[in-house]
Amino acid sequence: MIETVHIINGPNLNFTGKREHQIYGTENMESIIKQLKTQFPMVQIHYFQSNHEGEIIDYLQENYEHFQGIIINPGALTHYSIALLDALKSINCPVIEVHLSNIYQREDFRRISVTAPAAKGVITGFGKYSYFLALQYLLYL
Ligand code: DQA
Repeated sequence: MIETVHIINGPNLNFTGKREHQIYGTENMESIIKQLKTQFPMVQIHYFQSNHEGEIIDYLQENYEHFQGIIINPGALTHYSIALLDALKSINCPVIEVHLSNIYQREDFRRISVTAPAAKGVITGFGKYSYFLALQYLLYL
């Protein structure tokens, strides 16, 4: 069983709980991460968020050898960042892409995930439970 999971959030996810409540809910990420830690005490959860594409790529490259499982919500980078796709492709551990909202239910431009080909799978539309479901999957491995 894996011992550590890295949760990585992209741009604007630090505003979860503040922005567009009807889409992203009212809870903030700190509270969601706390709940994940309580629910899954058997795994060490590392959390990283950045509004900057390059910082996320740097983080992936710097921790390259230490990842056992990654849950990533790339935010808007999902829809256009080939650089993030390439960085994720060089990671050897399972990568799960998650979204709070159902990206297929929204604007057309959100229906395309350019990063998803680097993921084992995508969980989208379950609010904070997208993260819970992804973590549950990683613990089955
Ligand atoms: C999101 C969906 C993206 O389209 C959007 O740009 C986000 C959040 C989600 O979690 O639903 O910032 O990734």
